[in-house]
Amino acid sequence: MKAAVIRKYGGPDVFRIEEVDEPAPAAGEIKVRMRATSINPIDFKTRKGYLFFLSGFRFPKILCSDFSGIVEACGTGVTDFSPGDEVYGFTNGAMQGGGLAEALCCKASIASRKPAASSFEEAASIPLAASTAYQALTKVGGLKPGMRALVIGATGGVGHFAVQLAVIAGAHVTGVCRSSGEALARELGCEDVIAYDREDFRRAGKPPFDVIFDAAGKYGFWSCRSLLTASGVYVTTVPGPTVMPAVALTAAAKRKARFVGANSNDRDLSLMRQWCEEGRLKPTIEAVFPLEETRQAYELAESGRTRGKVVIRTV
Ligand SMILES: NC(=O)c1ccc[n+]([C@@H]2O[C@H](COP(=O)([O-])OP(=O)(O)OC[C@H]3O[C@@H](n4cnc5c(N)ncnc54)[C@H](OP(=O)(O)O)[C@@H]3O)[C@@H](O)[C@H]2O)c1
Repeated sequence: MKAAVIRKYGGPDVFRIEEVDEPAPAAGEIKVRMRATSINPIDFKTRKGYLFFLSGFRFPKILCSDFSGIVEACGTGVTDFSPGDEVYGFTNGAMQGGGLAEALCCKASIASRKPAASSFEEAASIPLAASTAYQALTKVGGLKPGMRALVIGATGGVGHFAVQLAVIAGAHVTGVCRSSGEALARELGCEDVIAYDREDFRRAGKPPFDVIFDAAGKYGFWSCRSLLTASGVYVTTVPGPTVMPAVALTAAAKRKARFVGANSNDRDLSLMRQWCEEGRLKPTIEAVFPLEETRQAYELAESGRTRGKVVIRTV
C-alpha cells in the first residue's frame, strides 16, 4: 500500500511517499481502508522528535492518528464491526500513528461508526480534537448547563470544537482568539469574544468563569486563577512545567488546575456522531490535501495561521 513515511525525525521535508506492506489485523483489531486523516500538533511534535521518549527510534514511521474509512477485515474476537462499516477514531498519536496510509489496523475498542451526515474528510477532522474538547469540558472540567465557560484558542483545532460542545452543554461561552478569528468564534457560538492581539483577556474585567479551557495550552493555572469562580476549574491541553505542579497543589483546593489527556472511545465518538447528525457540531476545515502533498499539509498546519483543521485525503 502507499503511505507517507518518515525515516528520521526532522522538518516537513522528511516525508516520503513509499510502498509499504499492508497491515493485518491482530486479535481484537480491525483493518480500516483509509479515506482521510487530519493533522494534530502531536503529529508534528512527534515528527520533530520532541516525543522521542514515547515514539522511540524505530523507522520508518507512519504519523497521524485520526482516521476515517471503511472496515475491510476484523481480527478474531471483534464483534462490534463487520467489513463495510464506515468508522472513525484516533490511535495513540506518538506511539502508534498510522493514518498517513491507505490502510490502518487498530483496536476495535477505539473506533466508532462515522457520522452518516459527514464526509470522510469531515469525519477525519473530528476524533482527536473533538474528543479532547469534550473530555476537557465535561469529564475534567465538570461543565453544566448555565455555567460560564472561557475557551482560549476558540478557533483552533481543539478550540473550535470546544466552543460548539460548550454551547451543546448549555453553557455561556466566551472565546479568546486573534482578532481575525472573531467572526468565526461568534459563528461557532461564542456570546462574547476577547481578541488576544488587542487585549489581555486576564484584564478584560469579565465576570468569573466556572470552567476555563486553555485549548491553546498557552497560559497556565496561576495566571488564570483569579478569573475562576470560587469552585472553578482550569483545564489545559499541554502539560507544561508549571501545570503538573499546579494540578498536584490544587488537588484538594476549591479552584483546581487540571490536565486533559484525550482517549478514543465509542461512547464519546457516538455522542459526536449524534451531534453531527443533528447539525449541532460541524468541523471547520482549513484545507484538504492529497497524501502526496503531506509535506505541504504539515507546513500549513504548523504555520499558526489555520482555522479549525487540516485534512489529508488518503485515497
Ligand atoms: N492533551 C491532549 O490530549 C491534547 C489533544 C489535542 C491537542 N493537544 C494540544 O493542544 C494544543 C492545541 O491543539 P490544536 O489542535 O487546537 O492546535 P491548533 O489548531 O494549532 O490551534 C492552536 C490555537 O492556539 C491559539 N493561540 C496561539 N497563541 C495564542 C495565545 N497567545 N493566546 C490565545 N490563543 C492562542 C491559536 O489562536 P489564533 O489562531 O487565533 O492565533 C489557535 O487557535 C497543542 O499544543 C496540542 O498539542 C493536547
